[in-house]
Amino acid sequence: MSSEHKKHYIVQPGGKLQGELRVPGDKSISHRSIMLGSLAEGVTEVTGFLEGDDALATLAAFRAMGVQIEGPKEGRVTIHGVGMHGLQASDKNIYLGNSGTSIRLLSGLLAGQDFTSTLTGDKSLSGRPMRRVTDPLAMMGAEIDSDEGKLPLKIKAGNKLTGITYTLPMASAQVKSCILLAGMYAEGKTTVTEPAPTRDHTERMLTGMGYAVEVNDDTVTIEGGGKLTATSIDVPADISSATFFMVGAAIAVGSDITLTHVGINPTRVGVINILRMMGADISLSNEALTGGEPVADIRVRYAPLKGIKIPEDQVPLAIDEFPALFVAAACAEGTTTLTGAQELRVKESDRIQAMADGLQTLGIDAQPTNDGIIITGGLIGSGEVESHDDHRIAMSFAIAGLQAGGTIQINNCANVATSFPNFIGLATKAGLDIEEFDV
Ligand code: S3P
Repeated sequence: MSSEHKKHYIVQPGGKLQGELRVPGDKSISHRSIMLGSLAEGVTEVTGFLEGDDALATLAAFRAMGVQIEGPKEGRVTIHGVGMHGLQASDKNIYLGNSGTSIRLLSGLLAGQDFTSTLTGDKSLSGRPMRRVTDPLAMMGAEIDSDEGKLPLKIKAGNKLTGITYTLPMASAQVKSCILLAGMYAEGKTTVTEPAPTRDHTERMLTGMGYAVEVNDDTVTIEGGGKLTATSIDVPADISSATFFMVGAAIAVGSDITLTHVGINPTRVGVINILRMMGADISLSNEALTGGEPVADIRVRYAPLKGIKIPEDQVPLAIDEFPALFVAAACAEGTTTLTGAQELRVKESDRIQAMADGLQTLGIDAQPTNDGIIITGGLIGSGEVESHDDHRIAMSFAIAGLQAGGTIQINNCANVATSFPNFIGLATKAGLDIEEFDV
């Protein structure tokens, strides 16, 4: 898998971002299209599917459980749904690479099957917390063995699930989705309350496939025993991947870039809100609804940024965008303060520490705190930084090159392939001077 071979990036300083680009498909929606398409009755056609390692790990998992899936070919995937009870045991452990979304959502879905599954992952995934899913699933009646809350997860067969009413201890769409997917197999109703709104792609796709989900303010309720009907799914471009170009254009003088057909689900637009608060010039056009998800073209033109105190209600709405937003803060005038973002410490890497270390190496005053960071804008210098095998850390330091005083080397970037295949190609086309080399 990608993290097993090493790839470094070298970024030359300067440049600006220009033109019109379509970044790859949304990772969250791509995962869910395979999961729900597999459980549906009928054939689901997916377009715009993200051909990145994470979504491909989900696809391989469902193939291993007997689902016939054609593609992906140029973003097209055809899934021959097997119905709610048509999955079969995989004859080997299911390896989910770097993908937190795969393992957390699959745990819920597999807890309701009448066969045992063992889920494994790479080094990063093996270090991430899984009690957040195994605890509520145990309350529903599932039996899951783990290594003290870490991988591998052995999800045992033959346990009848019962619906629960559960308040999430943290704002997490993965945990919410895990419980809702288990809820489809549980007796009675399952209700999840979230402390703050998180991405609602699971709820939207369930609804689009005919499975009733009741949403009331901060609660979501699903009743077991329903069914899914196949449909066609148009996956929008991923706002989390578009973010690198949005921030790049916001920091590099003379930039003017348009990112087309990007998902602008209200639970994902924190990056637009935060950049606008910092003074960025962002406009939306061609707004439309595709398969229950809002999309738009996003145009970003350079404008000077200023530091802000990031409102905590924006944190779950921009949770994957903070590494790039920290680069924007490093280029802004004044100080940017983030609080309430302790979840960043348990992502693919500890993103607070990884970004603070790298920004400091590049000469920026970046002070990590327990639940956030304080960054004072300044001049980005040159140097060698670590991505910690985290795709979003790697791409964030790559765009920092636009405002750097010298060359930046970013180590261990192979995992960019988990979410953004051809990042180098698109970034080069847009105006970033970046090269990769194998080591
Ligand atoms: C995701 C939810 C978020 C996000 C991740 C994708 C999803 O994780 O960081 O990249 O697809 O549901 P959490 O639920 O852990 O916040």
